[in-house]
Amino acid sequence: MGLSAMSDLAKLETEILGAIAAASDEAALEAVRVGALGKKGSISALLATLGKMSPDERKTEGAKINLAKDKVTEALTARRDILKNAALDARLASETIDVTLPTRETPAEQGRIHPLSQVMDELTAIFADMGFSIAEGPDIETDEYNFTKLNFPEGHPAREMHDTFFFNRKEDGSRPLLRTHTSPVQVRTMLSQKPPIRVICPGRTYRIDSDATHTPQFHQVEGLVIDKGSHLGHLKWILAEFCKAFFEVDNVNMKFRPSFFPFTEPSLEVDIQCRRDKGEIRFGEGEDWLEILGCGMVHPNVLRACGIDPDVYQGFAWGMGIDRIAMLKYGINDLRQMFESDTRWINHYGFKPLDVPTLAGGLSS
Ligand code: DAH
Repeated sequence: MGLSAMSDLAKLETEILGAIAAASDEAALEAVRVGALGKKGSISALLATLGKMSPDERKTEGAKINLAKDKVTEALTARRDILKNAALDARLASETIDVTLPTRETPAEQGRIHPLSQVMDELTAIFADMGFSIAEGPDIETDEYNFTKLNFPEGHPAREMHDTFFFNRKEDGSRPLLRTHTSPVQVRTMLSQKPPIRVICPGRTYRIDSDATHTPQFHQVEGLVIDKGSHLGHLKWILAEFCKAFFEVDNVNMKFRPSFFPFTEPSLEVDIQCRRDKGEIRFGEGEDWLEILGCGMVHPNVLRACGIDPDVYQGFAWGMGIDRIAMLKYGINDLRQMFESDTRWINHYGFKPLDVPTLAGGLSS
């Protein structure tokens, strides 16, 4: 290849410089560099021809080719700087972070805990702190555990008051049912544990009932204490401490009214004092009284039916509607909303999954 025509070198140089100027990013620029200065590049090829030239020719041609090489190298460096800066500018523009924005919740933080689950966690934390353990029983119960062992005589009107969902009668004549209260878990606990006993039993319960304040499936928490010296004073203290902790107030006033349950003697119902003010409820003051639970001393017949000697042991129990106290505490006015699975409702009334209720850290903070 003859370099005699100088215009060839000038043309090549112009071409390469044009390609450098046109390279739109660093990769394109690198391709131009390889094409010119790489092992098989056009300028490298010219330099390779020097060896075959006479010393004189080599001197003049070599100087020209090297001059072209220097120009190209310089142009490459300059263009690379420009492209690098442009790339950096583009990255800075596209990756801007406004550090003043509030942090976004990760998927694990986005879900919400249902107020009922929250309330179950809260009451578990409170009673666990008092030394209670959790007992559980099945939703499908026997007539024996739901009624008979709890001192409901056959044919007693109290059975009818429970609006029970019965299953079909089995071949042996027994009739399974959906438990109408958590009290059968008392029976199961007394049959399987030796006193002293101190348990709470939260869980689902069922009755044939449906309106703004009743759903066919609802929730209760049962409490049971059996020991030699247990008495109503202990029960009153436990319930008062529970109410103060649960409603997060320094003081609650409670009223104990005589009542009737087959499985307790005496039986009592507990109202707590409150004030309703523009849809808000305040506890520990006001003129209103709200019923929140039933309780009493465990009937000797129940102790006996569960293998505990009523001459040695006595105890007390209570049953509380969880849905009810959840609605009271969190200002929920229609029970049915709790079971509608509306995400807007749960976003409003729900709780953050990582805020686990504890007495030390706050129940509903
Ligand atoms: N089981 C009762 C109900 O569902 C509530 C209840 C009352 C439970 C008194 C008790 C109790 O343990 O002592 O209506």
